[in-house]
Amino acid sequence: VTTLEDPDTPFAVVDRARMERNIGRLGMRLDKLGVPLRLHVKTAKSLEVAERVHPTGPGPITVSTLAEAEYFADAGYTDIVYAVGIEPHKLARVLGLRRRGVDLQVLLDSTAQAEAVADASARTGEPIPALVEIDCDGHRAGIRADDPALLVIGRTLVDGGAELRGVLDHAGESYYADTPETQRQAAQEERDAVVRAARRLQEAGLSCPTVSVGSTPTAHAATDLTGVTEVRAGNYVFFDLVMAGIGVCAIDDLALSVVVTVIGHRPDKGWILTDGGWMATSRDRGTAVQKVDQGYGVVTDLSGRVLPDLLMSGASQEHGTLSLRTGSTQDLPELPVGTRVRILPNHACATAAQYAEYRVISGDTVSDAPEIEATWRRHNGW
Ligand SMILES: Cc1ncc(COP(=O)(O)O)c(C=O)c1O
Repeated sequence: VTTLEDPDTPFAVVDRARMERNIGRLGMRLDKLGVPLRLHVKTAKSLEVAERVHPTGPGPITVSTLAEAEYFADAGYTDIVYAVGIEPHKLARVLGLRRRGVDLQVLLDSTAQAEAVADASARTGEPIPALVEIDCDGHRAGIRADDPALLVIGRTLVDGGAELRGVLDHAGESYYADTPETQRQAAQEERDAVVRAARRLQEAGLSCPTVSVGSTPTAHAATDLTGVTEVRAGNYVFFDLVMAGIGVCAIDDLALSVVVTVIGHRPDKGWILTDGGWMATSRDRGTAVQKVDQGYGVVTDLSGRVLPDLLMSGASQEHGTLSLRTGSTQDLPELPVGTRVRILPNHACATAAQYAEYRVISGDTVSDAPEIEATWRRHNGW
């Protein structure tokens, strides 16, 4: 039997019971709202995780890299949205995937990209389907739903030999919405923006079959998705401290953690040192802007019980520093050299990205040394 005491640290752990609970929770919500999920595989980048979301066989997915698209295509996934604005040099790989029978759709928000996609489509006689990215909250890319460029982009695609598949947006600002009400508002704005954009395209005689929304906070807050054809979410399979910090989940829902080992002590400073630095957790400090700053992560014992007020407060490349939260009245726990603890991360996507694989524990029973039941690969890179 292999347990969390066995592999050399640091390594990433997935608590399967928590993950399955998270997957079930969003699945039930979306069933009620009557909109299918297009899983974003960027968080876990794992076939086994996707299999839990789509147990009856490959379903629709979203990817953030062509490497993910190729990896999932190799495993039989044929309905894929590449949800990062297309860069024309990558169109050769897009066409390569499409020739393998994958309905890979690209995303764009400019006439320059639309022209490049139309040119590649016309040159090969293979229409590439594209979604136009709509900006609903000023967070990142996209054009506003009422931007005149929307119709120009749509016409450029259609007249140039490509396919206008629809519109897509992502309420990235919802990660800063820390009340149920502001999360509901973000979900509403995310929905309203793409529905408005879709209507404009249709009124101009352009077809717009796909109306795609999604982020983990808005997927959990939406109350009405009329006019929306799919919801994308990825982080929710693991959740993380940022999501717990805005109340989308509880700390007990966090399914990803990193096992590290105590390598020393600095009693004069109140520090416990570990072999897990920012290479192990990533440098993500997402909770720094939240009501409760969780440092580089919340510390639990190997069984997953939170050690009160103990945070991973500092990180260099391969050293982690654990100390008590400022103002804590707890005593620093006794963790002799060689003790293993787990770190719950700020941002699951960033932490998972440090690893090539997950050690999986069932999570069904509490144990001082949980058994590793499986190892699941991740597919990193571009
Ligand atoms: C375009 C797009 N759609 C969907 C998502 C999924 O969001 P989340 O990870 O919050 O579920 C992301 C995540 O960054 C994204 O960039």
